[in-house]
Amino acid sequence: MNRICQLFNIKYPIIQGGMVWCSGWRLASAVSNAGGLGLLGAGSMHPEVLREHIIKCKQATDKPFGVNVPLMYPEIETIMHIIAEEGVKIVFTSAGNPKTWTNYLKEQGITVAHVVSSSKFAAKCEEAGVDAIVAEGFEAGGHNGREETTTLCLIPAVRRATTLPLIAAGGIGTGEAIAAVQALGAEGVQIGSRFALTKESSAHDNFKQLCLSLDEGDTKLLLKKLSPTRLAKGDFKQAVEEAEARGASVEEMRELLGRGRAKKGIFEGNLQEGELEIGQIASLFHESQSVEEVMQDLVSSYQSALKNISSGWGE
Ligand SMILES: Cc1cc2nc3c(=O)[nH]c(=O)nc-3n(C[C@H](O)[C@H](O)[C@H](O)COP(=O)(O)O)c2cc1C
Repeated sequence: MNRICQLFNIKYPIIQGGMVWCSGWRLASAVSNAGGLGLLGAGSMHPEVLREHIIKCKQATDKPFGVNVPLMYPEIETIMHIIAEEGVKIVFTSAGNPKTWTNYLKEQGITVAHVVSSSKFAAKCEEAGVDAIVAEGFEAGGHNGREETTTLCLIPAVRRATTLPLIAAGGIGTGEAIAAVQALGAEGVQIGSRFALTKESSAHDNFKQLCLSLDEGDTKLLLKKLSPTRLAKGDFKQAVEEAEARGASVEEMRELLGRGRAKKGIFEGNLQEGELEIGQIASLFHESQSVEEVMQDLVSSYQSALKNISSGWGE
C-alpha cells in the first residue's frame, strides 16, 4: 500500500497544501471528503479563529484532515496548544526548524510532516523525527526556497537523502505531473495553486479570476532579501521588481512590503495594492472548478498518464 495513504489514512495520496487566506474549513473538508488530505492554513488565522475552523472542519468531514503551521508564526505556542486540545491528528510544519516542535507534537500522538526546499533540510527532518517530508520546488506558489531548485531536480535529490515517506510539491496540478513525480521517487503530492482557485477556497474572487487569466511566465520569485515569494503580475509585483532592480536595501524592501499585503491581495481582492501569491502552474487553468471536479480530474488524468507511459518508448 502507498505509504502516504497509510500514514494519513486517506484514499488518494493527494494533499491540499495549507495556504494563507485560502484554506479554511470549507476547502480542507472538501478535499478530505473527496479522498485527499485537506489542511487548514493556520498562517493567516488568529489562534481562536483556528480553533473555530478546526471545530467546523470536524463537523464538515469525518475523514482525516490536518493543520499547516508556518513555524515563524508569532503566536506559535498558543496555536500548538489549540491543535493538541482540539485533538487534531496531523500537522504539517513549514518555514522553520523541524526540531523545534516535532517532539511536542509527537508526544501528543500527532503525525508530523515538514516542508523543505533542499535535501540538506530533508536530512534535518529525519534527525528531528518527522513522519514524512514535503519537498517543495521553485515552481510553487507562496514562500519558497532561495536556491531555486526545481521540483524535477529536488525530488530525486531528496529521495537520495532520506528513506522517509516523500511528498512532492511545486508545479503539480495534473495527474500527469503526479505520475512524473512518482517516477522521481515521491509517494504523494501536495498541491497548492490549483486548490487555491477552487470554489471552496476562501480567496477573493478577484484574486481567483486574475490567477485564472495568467499566462506562462506571469509569476516570478521575488522578495529574496526578505522571504522569497512567488508573485503574480500586477502593480505590487512591478513595484518590487523595480525596487530590486535598483538594488533597494532590506529596510526599503521591508517598508515596501509593509504589513497585511497578502490579506489585501488574496482575501480582500485588492489587485492594485495586494501581494498576489500563486504558483507557475496556475497558467494551465482558466476556469474555477469545485474540489470534487479537481479531484476527479487528478485521479482520471493520473490513470491515463500511467496508461500512456506504460508502453515505454513505444514500438
Ligand atoms: C496563496 C498561497 C498561500 C500559501 N500559503 C502557505 C502557508 O501558509 N504555509 C505553507 O506551508 N505553504 C503555503 N503555500 C504553499 C502550498 O502549501 C504548497 O506547498 C504549494 O502551493 C505547492 O505548489 P503549487 O502552488 O505549485 O501547487 C501557499 C501557496 C499559495 C499558492
